[in-house]
Amino acid sequence: MYNLLKGKRGIIFGALDPKSIAWKIAEKAHAEGATFVLTNAPIALRMGTMNELAEKTNSQIIPADATSMEDLENLVTKSVEILGGKLDFVLHSIGMSVNVRKGRHYTDQKYDFTTKGWDISAVSFHKVMSVLYKQDAMNEWGSIVALTYMAAQRVFPDYNDMADNKAYLESVARSFGYFFGTEKKVRVNTISQSPTPTTAGQGVKGFDGFFTYAEKMSPLGNATADECADYTITLFSDLTKKVTLQNLFHDGGFSNIGVSQSVMDYFEKE
Ligand SMILES: NC(=O)c1ccc[n+]([C@@H]2O[C@H](COP(=O)([O-])OP(=O)(O)OC[C@H]3O[C@@H](n4cnc5c(N)ncnc54)[C@H](O)[C@@H]3O)[C@@H](O)[C@H]2O)c1
Repeated sequence: MYNLLKGKRGIIFGALDPKSIAWKIAEKAHAEGATFVLTNAPIALRMGTMNELAEKTNSQIIPADATSMEDLENLVTKSVEILGGKLDFVLHSIGMSVNVRKGRHYTDQKYDFTTKGWDISAVSFHKVMSVLYKQDAMNEWGSIVALTYMAAQRVFPDYNDMADNKAYLESVARSFGYFFGTEKKVRVNTISQSPTPTTAGQGVKGFDGFFTYAEKMSPLGNATADECADYTITLFSDLTKKVTLQNLFHDGGFSNIGVSQSVMDYFEKE
């Protein structure tokens, strides 16, 4: 370890279980010397697995539904108190589509579900940043990161309305990032991660198919949750101070590939 986050304070949203990308990020942030508060929706906390992570990383847990301004205001105020100062990093690692969960086809959405999924997966990022901004809770040269997926740019039919949510999320990162940059010298980026076997990932129909397809297309293979955590740590560190308003692909090269030899071989056998 390199002490890249020594003395830095933060909030980590979205660690549900040891497979969660946020879980790996919390472990690595701790190893790199950071102190932070862990948070998740009250319903997710009932599973109790987060206590294990909190113990391991000497962190406190504050429940917050990321769609509730009241919960977010309480979370940010308390985190600054508990950690003893303003924040240097915030991770938004939250996603959920009710249409996907209920098996609704993209062409036949229930719009109450659409709105709820959009609020949880995309608008929540605006809400989190709005609370951080209004409470002036971020230190200069702080870093805010949200996780996204390439279905924001290209069609993956089974990703359903999460594709639209991710496009919105990435746009919010740029729009809010402008104000956070000019007013407070805080950077805002999204990391576009490879398909990763987590609770949210595996909830997408056909996950195994597109996981294997992406693996065979990417020159470096799919990026794992652990590797995503490493990359995120660099964005929280002082080594990336002028990187902002970016959607950064962390996908083994998948996003720039037309076709790979291994996919060609598969079809040539036919
Ligand atoms: N797994 C993948 O293939 C993949 C690929 C690219 C991007 N991502 C993104 O990574 C992020 C993390 O997902 P993951 O794969 O680690 O899965 P995960 O299921 O472990 O994490 C999703 C988290 O969102 C939380 N959440 C849901 N509703 C919430 C609410 N109302 N308030 C607060 N938190 C809430 C869940 O409790 C959970 O902790 C998501 O944004 C996801 O879209 C995942």
